[in-house]
Amino acid sequence: MLKYQPKPLNPTTTITTVPGDKSISHRSIILASLTKQDIKIEKCLMSTDCLNTINIFQQLGVSINYQKQTGCVDINGVGLHGLKAPKTQLNVGNSGTAIRLISGILAGQSFNSTLTGDASIQTRPMKRIILPLTQMGAKITGNDLHNEKCPPLHITGTALQGITYELPIASAQVKSCILLAGLFANGKTTVIETKATRDHTEIMLKGMGVDIKQIPLKSQGRSITVIPPKTLSYRNHQTLTIPADFSSAAFLIVLALITKIDLTLHNINLNPTRSSLLNVLEGFGIPVKETSDITEFFDGILIKRSASTLGEPAGDIRINITNTLLKNGTVPTELIPLIIDEIPILAIYGLFALGTLTVAEAEELRVKESDRIATIVAMISKLGGTITETSAGFYLQGNPDHTVSDHVCIDPKFDHRIAMAAIIASVASQTPIQLLDSECIETSFPNFMDIIQQLYRT
Ligand code: S3P
Repeated sequence: MLKYQPKPLNPTTTITTVPGDKSISHRSIILASLTKQDIKIEKCLMSTDCLNTINIFQQLGVSINYQKQTGCVDINGVGLHGLKAPKTQLNVGNSGTAIRLISGILAGQSFNSTLTGDASIQTRPMKRIILPLTQMGAKITGNDLHNEKCPPLHITGTALQGITYELPIASAQVKSCILLAGLFANGKTTVIETKATRDHTEIMLKGMGVDIKQIPLKSQGRSITVIPPKTLSYRNHQTLTIPADFSSAAFLIVLALITKIDLTLHNINLNPTRSSLLNVLEGFGIPVKETSDITEFFDGILIKRSASTLGEPAGDIRINITNTLLKNGTVPTELIPLIIDEIPILAIYGLFALGTLTVAEAEELRVKESDRIATIVAMISKLGGTITETSAGFYLQGNPDHTVSDHVCIDPKFDHRIAMAAIIASVASQTPIQLLDSECIETSFPNFMDIIQQLYRT
């Protein structure tokens, strides 16, 4: 149990950054392991999720050394067909990304393997990957649970055949699983997504010279086709520098909006499939502007683009609200897959904004690290907000003058994003809270508490 006592914030300019992007860190570890090169990853996220992925590839015979303090990871890749049978079960911990992406790779190997994880992972739905992988010829069994197949996943490695598959759920994890399995398949593999999802796998594979084609569809989705390469390699750069995680930055963006502190965040990933929270906020009336001078006076959010990193757009974000009133609205449903990880912190924004925040068609939240509709509703209710749960979202009545009662106790259900959202509510309202578990924050943002500390008045 953590008793969190917030301190007064520093209102003058604070400049900081957040750790490396979780999605890109996982993919970099996975794909670098499949090259025959010595790859250095810089600014890799050293959270428990990514450390588990490193551990798994070590068990699969890849030599990986890392420094937790610096986020430097050295990988001696074994080549596309060089992975070795693991001696034990492979443990992804809490990571849905790891289990789904790595399943795609293990399905096409010449050895058998078992992927498992923590209590949360063992309840997460895997039919969504088992179905397409089985169509490719894979042999995967899981536990039967509530009409689903859940980990542990027992994978019998086998030869795969390319398929064309339309995603029934907008999920970058499922898309990436199939595309990665496609690297080992006979013939081309096409994934059709009717709603756009994050596209880091496509960007990384392209950066490695893989023949991958993306065709925009009439809807805002696309079809992605991958031709299996003979080898995977980076041509120009053996050092992969990971941009900072927009989803982690989102917690600080919302804190700065509510408290009107002047905050600049450096080198954040601005891939449009990740930064759509800014579009949502703009739609709610927060001015957002691109600039070449991040220090200019502007009542709103400024974005200064810098050179792209690893094919991903990046830049600085300055939040400096002076007069703008925070208002709520309805989140456009086509943006839901693009802001799925930001909904817990958007709910905290909604608590301190005027009007009603409506989130609909977000049923995927039910099967994240926790049932995030239920955990958000419980958290907001405990924080004194008026929130109504729906089957695929919620609506919540906000109030710019909202006050939180001292020492309310939040149960994040071991979900990192709920725990961080609760801390932001505490800091924003300058009210002490209790948090049943704060260790889960290590999953994605190990220095979260230190960064909050940096924002306090000294
Ligand atoms: C991720 C995709 C998202 C996201 C998760 C990371 C990824 O999941 O929620 O935190 O790295 O591909 P879905 O694509 O399943 O929604």
